[in-house]
Amino acid sequence: MSKKLWIIVSAVLVFGMLFAACAPAAPAAEEAAPAEAAAPAEQAAAPTEAPAEAAAPAEEAALPKIGATIYKFDDNFMSFVRRAIETGMEGKAELILNDSQNDQAKQNEQVDTMISKGVQALAINLVNPQGASAIIAKAKEAGLPVVFFNKEPSAEDMASYDKCWYVGTRSAESGEMQGQIIVDSWKANPAWDKNGDGVMQYVLLKGEPGHPDAEARTKYAVETVVNAGIQVEELELQTGMWDSVKGKELMDAWLAKHGDAIEYVIANNDAMALGAIASLQAEGYFTGDKFMPVVGVDAIPDALVQIKAGTLVGSVLNDAANQGKATVDLALNVAMGKDPLDGTNWTLDEVKAVRVPYLGITLDNITVAEESYK
Ligand code: GAL
Ligand code: CA
Repeated sequence: MSKKLWIIVSAVLVFGMLFAACAPAAPAAEEAAPAEAAAPAEQAAAPTEAPAEAAAPAEEAALPKIGATIYKFDDNFMSFVRRAIETGMEGKAELILNDSQNDQAKQNEQVDTMISKGVQALAINLVNPQGASAIIAKAKEAGLPVVFFNKEPSAEDMASYDKCWYVGTRSAESGEMQGQIIVDSWKANPAWDKNGDGVMQYVLLKGEPGHPDAEARTKYAVETVVNAGIQVEELELQTGMWDSVKGKELMDAWLAKHGDAIEYVIANNDAMALGAIASLQAEGYFTGDKFMPVVGVDAIPDALVQIKAGTLVGSVLNDAANQGKATVDLALNVAMGKDPLDGTNWTLDEVKAVRVPYLGITLDNITVAEESYK
C-alpha cells in the first residue's frame, strides 16, 4: 500500500471511529506482488525492450535511469546473470533492458536509443568482444559511464576511456579448473582409456571463437591435462557457439565418425555439454556400462542435475549471481556520479575489471553451486 493511500485509509478510520458507533473494518491491505523475476529457463524471445516494473510515480523521478543490454536472451548462462541484474536493480534504478539478439549493429542502435532516453549509465554485455570501441565512442560523446560485463573488451579498449569498467572473471581460471577435474577423474578411472594406449583421445566443443572465455578455456583445459603428464590426442575441435542444439549436432556427427574411440568430451560450457549428453543418451550411453565422460563450465542448475545423475563428470561454477550483483553495484554508483566501488567489497585490477572467482564443481561440493543458483 502506498504512503498516500495509507494516510487516506488511516484518516477514514479515525473519522469513522469519531463519528460512527460501529465503523466498518478497513479492508485488508492488499500487498503489492513483487515483480516476478524472469524464469531463467524460459528461452522464448522477449520484447526487445522490456522496461522494469515502474515504481510509484513519486519515487520514480529519484531513481537513476540505467540502460542495459544482454547479447542474446536465448543463452542459458546469461539468463541467470540477467535475472541477477533485474533483481538487483529492483527499486534502485529505472532499468531499460534490451535483448541484442546476437546482432552487434542492433546493440549499437539500442545504445543510441537509450542515450536519447537520458540514461545515466550503460551496462553492456557485448555481442562481439570487438564491439567495445564503437560503444565507448558513443558513451564518450554523451559523457556517460559504461560498465561492460561477461564479454571482456580488449585491454586497449578498456584503457581508451577512463569512465569504463568491466565485470567478469579471469577466463584462464575456468580452463585450469576444468582441466584439473579432467586430470583427477582420468587418473581415478583407468578404464576410461578404452583402447589402452595411455593417451586420452578427446573431442572439444568450443564456445564463440574470439570470445576470451572460449579461447582461454580451450587453451588452459588442455594445457592443464598435458602439464599433469597425461598424453592427449585431439580427435575433433569445433565451435558449438555456447549452444545446446549445436553441441548435440556436433556430437551426433562425431559419434557417427569416431564412436567409442572418443574417450573424453570437453565442453567450453554446460549448454554444449548438455547437448553432447543428449546425443550420447540417444546412442545408448549412460545405460549398463556404456559410458563416456563429459565435462562443462558454468555449473547451471540443469548441469548440476546431470552431475548427480552421473552423466556429467563435473563443471566449473561461473558465479552469475555475483557477476550480476557487481554489475548492478558498479552501474548504480557510476550513474549517481560516485566512485564505482563506493560501499562495496569489490576490487578493480589494472584494466579496471572486477574478477569474480570460479570454482570447480563435482559431486563432492555440488551444494555450493546449488546455493549459488538459488
Ligand atoms: C560465458 C559462459 C557461456 C556463455 C558466454 C556468453 O562466460 O560460460 O555459457 O554464456 O559467457 O558470453
Ligand atoms: Ca586412449
